[in-house]
Amino acid sequence: MASIQDKDTWSGRFNEPVAELVKRYTASVDFDRKLALFDIRGSLAHAQMLASCGIIAAQDLDDIRRGLAVIENEVVDGTFEWSLDLEDVHLNIEKRLTMLVGDAGKRLHTGRSRNDQVATDVRLYLRSAIDDMLVLIGNMQGALLDLAQQHTHTIMPGFTHLQVAQPISFAHHLMAYFEMLKRDAERLHDCRSRVNRLPLGAAALAGTSYPIKREMVAELLGFEGVCENSLDAVSDRDFAIEFTSAAALIMMHLSRFSEELILWMSPRVGFIDIADRFCTGSSIMPQKKNPDVPELVRGKTGRVFGHLMGLLTLMKGQPLAYNKDNQEDKEPLFDTVETLTQTLRIYADMVGGIKVKPEAMRAAALQGYATATDLADYLVKKGLPFRDAHEAVALAVRYAEQRGCDLADIELAELQRFSADIADDVYQVLSLEGSLASRNHIGGTAPNQVEAAIARARVHLLK
Ligand code: ARG
Repeated sequence: MASIQDKDTWSGRFNEPVAELVKRYTASVDFDRKLALFDIRGSLAHAQMLASCGIIAAQDLDDIRRGLAVIENEVVDGTFEWSLDLEDVHLNIEKRLTMLVGDAGKRLHTGRSRNDQVATDVRLYLRSAIDDMLVLIGNMQGALLDLAQQHTHTIMPGFTHLQVAQPISFAHHLMAYFEMLKRDAERLHDCRSRVNRLPLGAAALAGTSYPIKREMVAELLGFEGVCENSLDAVSDRDFAIEFTSAAALIMMHLSRFSEELILWMSPRVGFIDIADRFCTGSSIMPQKKNPDVPELVRGKTGRVFGHLMGLLTLMKGQPLAYNKDNQEDKEPLFDTVETLTQTLRIYADMVGGIKVKPEAMRAAALQGYATATDLADYLVKKGLPFRDAHEAVALAVRYAEQRGCDLADIELAELQRFSADIADDVYQVLSLEGSLASRNHIGGTAPNQVEAAIARARVHLLK
């Protein structure tokens, strides 16, 4: 019995020690030790509040600070001895603190439960991860802008159904991803404000009988406010789900971009080359250079989607308030943060290393009658109803197909067989440059519009 008392913080009412298997099954220290520094920060704020409210003595606060400073160093330099017997990060740190400073260590947990403690730690962790991620998204957007800036006049085919549709600039295509990432960053910002609420003070579930000051702890930890209901404070994991959902959207965007990079790099398409440092060779085929990084990004998107589903399912059947189920929130959350952080980090660099092949893009844009819509619009401007113009151009395309040439290669007299309204000025309209220049409105692919979009984007990034 005595030995159980020594080991376990809560074993006073137990008649037998917890089975080894159960200990290993229920312990979380192997993964929640990642929260150690946040746990220490939370404890420092809690202790400061306890002292300021006269719940612990000033001397206790001094001792706690001294002990936690030692622990922080041990955690940072890797000498802290984690023990599975002590279950989780919270009890490991508390036990060590008591070893270092005696009774003050045992007073730290006054008016607090691991339930509000862990919720606080996870929120502090996630807030910091979101801040890192916002910087990384900004870097990736900056890399997109730098590349786009050089290619407002680089013409490629725009696709629908993966069929050549209309000519666009490569810059315009890249700027579509800038917009996606802009929304992604907005979502993270928005999510951050709900992450940034303090659970501490909720204690186990009902609040505490000590005269605490939750607002003070919130302020010390930089939270925007307190969680207003103690039951909700300890049991809410919406904030983690919301973050993971925003993360899943980011990965989805990066996965789409990856798919395009892979296609563009395929020798069949040949629009771009990805710097060698992001590719690998084949162990058997000497000629190969494979786009491993974008492929892995596409693959890793699956695990983040999975984490989102895992977290939703983790919560769906839980009655109020805290249940041990919640311990399972950490690994999916940590893995989501890590996957996303690494992916964003690698991506900014990879975008910077893209080598564009404008001739291949141009050659592709010249196939597939990409300016057919321009011809129809030209006829409409001459007075033809759009449907009739569409029909006339369809016949012209069929004719060009039979001749195996482009619309722009057909002589004027021949073109006029499809509509008497066609005049000499049609060739400007049928050119790739003319097609781009004509889409001259906000959101269009005209080079001056895309340049303006890039300029606006730069201003936005500086905000
Ligand atoms: N390791 C636990 C978790 O991650 C901490 C909270 C434990 N609370 C409890 N009542 N057992 O959720």
